[in-house]
Amino acid sequence: MSLSDFVFATCRAGSEKALKKEVSLQPGKLLTPAFMRPQLITWKVQAGLPTDFVFDALLGVVCGWSLGMARSAEDVAEILKTSDLHVCALHVFPRLISEDGLTPDEWAPVEALADSLKQVCQTSSESHYILDVILGEAGEPWFIGCHPRSAASHPHAGGLPKLTIPTEAPSRAWLKMEQSLAWLGLDAPDLLVGKSALELGSAPGGASWSLLQRGMKVIGVDTGAVATCVQNHPNYDHVGLPASQLPLDYLPERIDLLACDMNLAPDVVLKYLEPLYLRLKPCWLVLTFKMNDARVEALMPYFIQQVRRFASGPVYAKQLHANRREVTLVSQSADV
Ligand SMILES: C[S@@+](CC[C@H](N)C(=O)[O-])C[C@H]1O[C@@H](n2cnc3c(N)ncnc32)[C@H](O)[C@@H]1O
Repeated sequence: MSLSDFVFATCRAGSEKALKKEVSLQPGKLLTPAFMRPQLITWKVQAGLPTDFVFDALLGVVCGWSLGMARSAEDVAEILKTSDLHVCALHVFPRLISEDGLTPDEWAPVEALADSLKQVCQTSSESHYILDVILGEAGEPWFIGCHPRSAASHPHAGGLPKLTIPTEAPSRAWLKMEQSLAWLGLDAPDLLVGKSALELGSAPGGASWSLLQRGMKVIGVDTGAVATCVQNHPNYDHVGLPASQLPLDYLPERIDLLACDMNLAPDVVLKYLEPLYLRLKPCWLVLTFKMNDARVEALMPYFIQQVRRFASGPVYAKQLHANRREVTLVSQSADV
């Protein structure tokens, strides 16, 4: 269903040009770029959209319909009325988001505004649309859009759980893992307690630290050195071998979460990942594919397709805010 003549996508800082290129390569050439600001692009929709059209992009963190600009809660209410739109939730977030996210001080005014907007935005659990209110710099009107609620889109406003990297986390991969868990809906406290994980490419240990702090038992595979806090954790088991030499009979029958964050070309990652996935039948997969060169960037849809071929549940892929030159893929097994 078409809700507007324009669509929008937000993106990670610095990915604007690549996002524009990605959308220009989408089949049908249905969208032409309209407006571009740092971390926000809109496109005009050409006539004749297929009825099942859903706008999405690998490099688009939030992708949806553009509904206009607003300067007040009343303007937002008017936009909702004019577009005859009912929404199930309200997401308020800034346009400019750094790779480390926002500090609590930066979130405070955003949350206050979200609270005041809730007064004018009635939500209905029957709607499948989430209203996005994207805040620009001082004096700029708010950008208003909406996107369908689905497992493909991140459940947090702007794709950004309210997290600050703890000083003791051995690497920024802590944030990548936390944003991925939130995307899978696994961020509730205690949900992962006692569950098991295997991470390929575990050093220095930021992602494993996130999983350990959530009460998981982690096997980390990496020839690199792991931070002491991770290495000495009673629930961490370091296998100091390359993934190619990981002895399968060392592994348990099943693993709850298979994570992979190796800085290798996706074709090589796939070679190690697929047999492990098929053998361990994980409930969840969290994987990064590095985009270190133009060849990999161009072939990314193919690599994602390869994961879809063997994964037992739907596979979603996005460049999250915490990702640098890489994308994150997540999947939940159909049996969960
Ligand atoms: C981006 S870092 C991983 C960061 C890590 N996930 C964390 O949480 O801190 C990439 C890692 O992949 C590892 N790696 C590269 N090739 C590998 C291989 N064949 N087997 C296992 N690990 C590998 C590197 O040693 C490096 O530590």
